[in-house]
Amino acid sequence: MSNQLLKGKKGIIFGALDEKSIAWKTALACHAQGAQLVLTNAPVALRMGEINKLAEAVNAPVIGADVVNMDDLKNLFTESIKHFGGGIDFILHSIGMSLNVRKGKHYTEIDYGFNQKTLDISAMSLHRVLRTAFEMDALNEWGSVVALTYIAAQRVFPDYNEMADAKALLESITRSFGYHYGVKKKVRINTISQSPTRTTAGSGVKGFDGFISYAEKMSPLGNASAEDCANYCVTMFSDMTKMVTMQNLFHDGGFSYTGVTNAVIEQMEK
Ligand SMILES: NC(=O)c1ccc[n+]([C@@H]2O[C@H](COP(=O)([O-])OP(=O)(O)OC[C@H]3O[C@@H](n4cnc5c(N)ncnc54)[C@H](O)[C@@H]3O)[C@@H](O)[C@H]2O)c1
Repeated sequence: MSNQLLKGKKGIIFGALDEKSIAWKTALACHAQGAQLVLTNAPVALRMGEINKLAEAVNAPVIGADVVNMDDLKNLFTESIKHFGGGIDFILHSIGMSLNVRKGKHYTEIDYGFNQKTLDISAMSLHRVLRTAFEMDALNEWGSVVALTYIAAQRVFPDYNEMADAKALLESITRSFGYHYGVKKKVRINTISQSPTRTTAGSGVKGFDGFISYAEKMSPLGNASAEDCANYCVTMFSDMTKMVTMQNLFHDGGFSYTGVTNAVIEQMEK
């Protein structure tokens, strides 16, 4: 059902890799709610070609940008403003990558070169995107930026590895830049802390199957799906949430505030 919550709004969606991606579902939801979109991903991801199907479905151009390359980001904003014929109202940052997880390095033995790249791609990239928009004055007043995060920034999930540190940094940048952009132009910046979700990035975490079932049993409402997350993003991009900024918003079926559930106790008693 569409309420046209985003009618007239223009947004950039980072990170739609394939149809499992949270960014993919969010692009579909924003389109259904009346938004105009530009899609972007790293050139290496664009070569897979999947994103063209989404581009057709939401009637959006695809503009490649490696999120750690400032020239790419400048070009992305310049071309997006040209395409929209004006400023941008919302941005979804849906980007994560851990080199140490990929290479199977244990947290206590991480390679610091890989770690720098992980932090740059998964966290500092939000600063890079915001800084580019800030300097180009690319975002409209009351614009909304959402980045996706995970509760491992607050509590230990051992196999989440260095991504826990990357998410903690991402959430800190959200608060710090949220202050400056709020003062400058009433732009709001928030993170959504999503349940474990079966996507390419999600399934890269060791023991993901056990982990997603545990979260399901530990959440009074069950795990939030990628579609649910997409709908939450729509509300955050809409004017209905215009005074919310600098927050980390848990979207996890209640997982974050649950100590234990009967389902987990029953499992332990088996
Ligand atoms: N899947 C989960 O369980 C889960 C839970 C909480 C939060 N998140 C977060 O959601 C976000 C989206 O992940 P997803 O689960 O949809 O997986 P995904 O693999 O579909 O998306 C990750 C995206 O990051 C992009 N990316 C990687 N390096 C890039 C670069 N240098 N430049 C531009 N883009 C780059 C990839 O191409 C891909 O599109 C991530 O921030 C992830 O950490 C995921």
